[in-house]
Amino acid sequence: MKMNPLGRTGLTVSELCLGTMTFGTQTSEAEGHAQIDRALADGINFIDTAEMYPVNPVSKETVGRTEEIIGTWNAANPARRGDFILATKHSGEGMQHVRDGAPISAATIPQTIEASLRRLRTEYIDLYQFHWPNRGSYMFRRNWSYDPSGQNREETLANMEACLDALQTQVDKGNIRHFGLSNESAWGTAQWLRLAERTGGPRVASIQNEYSLMCRLYDTDLAELSVNEDVGLLAFSPLAAGLLTGKYQAGAVPEGSRMSLVPELGGRKGPRAFAAVAAYLEIAERHGLDPVHMALAWCRTRPFMASAIFGATRMEQLDRALGSVEVVLSDAVLAEIDAAHRAHPMPY
Ligand SMILES: NC(=O)c1ccc[n+]([C@@H]2O[C@H](COP(=O)([O-])OP(=O)(O)OC[C@H]3O[C@@H](n4cnc5c(N)ncnc54)[C@H](OP(=O)(O)O)[C@@H]3O)[C@@H](O)[C@H]2O)c1
Repeated sequence: MKMNPLGRTGLTVSELCLGTMTFGTQTSEAEGHAQIDRALADGINFIDTAEMYPVNPVSKETVGRTEEIIGTWNAANPARRGDFILATKHSGEGMQHVRDGAPISAATIPQTIEASLRRLRTEYIDLYQFHWPNRGSYMFRRNWSYDPSGQNREETLANMEACLDALQTQVDKGNIRHFGLSNESAWGTAQWLRLAERTGGPRVASIQNEYSLMCRLYDTDLAELSVNEDVGLLAFSPLAAGLLTGKYQAGAVPEGSRMSLVPELGGRKGPRAFAAVAAYLEIAERHGLDPVHMALAWCRTRPFMASAIFGATRMEQLDRALGSVEVVLSDAVLAEIDAAHRAHPMPY
């Protein structure tokens, strides 16, 4: 398993990170615990969660359940807490099921961290992430109608500065070790970096944005920011929420699959998506590769990648994802992937 630096924190994270957002809905507590055991045994040292998980669906009744499931694992394995990097997230503005949609602020940060620590049954969070910016995000297919002209620069910067202060207090208390962003833009991340330099607050270690063969918004300005500032990408949905496995081709909707629960797959479903998937499946087939392995091994080749946060609702899926660490893509495969990307840019 390749290890990558987590920003300038001095920590290293495995190239694969275990996503947990289905623990508590599609994935039972026992299965979740088994997945953590297997992931750690096979060299993963990185687990990602969020206060609002599980998903599919998100509901007021289940908010926090995923952290609780990780918490019962922590309680049963007290000696193992130092073996892995645990990342969680503070929900951004507008999530009605959490604090009635309140924005992230200096006031919400301490109580939100304390609640996560209680559920996770740990004394510290290694990477504390803001799930999405209060001012909104162009991720989640909002890029098609993105208009930042309503943003208030002074308010945004004042909020960032106050949040950095609150986060530093949490670092000083030992509650969190490092700070990360999610669903952020290049401008936003640059401001966080600049303000942290000025105030001495925690420096952004990572950006968790969607990234896969099918979603490559990160390839330009954010890529530049990543490599120059040592802020690595934590790529979520590297299998395009399951599309890249090929299981949804030709109109198939397997029972119990994400698409059976979330028919539009978060705005990813559509004819252009299936055509793009077909192109990647053909490349995999031509070269005798498992498409899951190809999608994850490709992430490793990207210059800004810190870790790919994949999901597995079942143990067989986790095992298959783990197989990708043995796979090295040839120059011929990479060239064909580039050609497919040009032929199928932004399939959703
Ligand atoms: N920051 C954010 O806003 C954000 C957003 C989304 C996710 N995330 C993080 O990223 C993690 C991963 O996201 P994701 O689940 O969308 O990632 P993904 O790796 O693209 O998709 C994983 C899903 O694909 C299906 N799948 C995986 N392997 C398969 C296989 N071998 N055969 C058939 N189906 C397979 C499973 O869904 P089914 O079995 O249900 O079909 C699985 O849950 C989350 O757990 C979370 O930690 C963060």
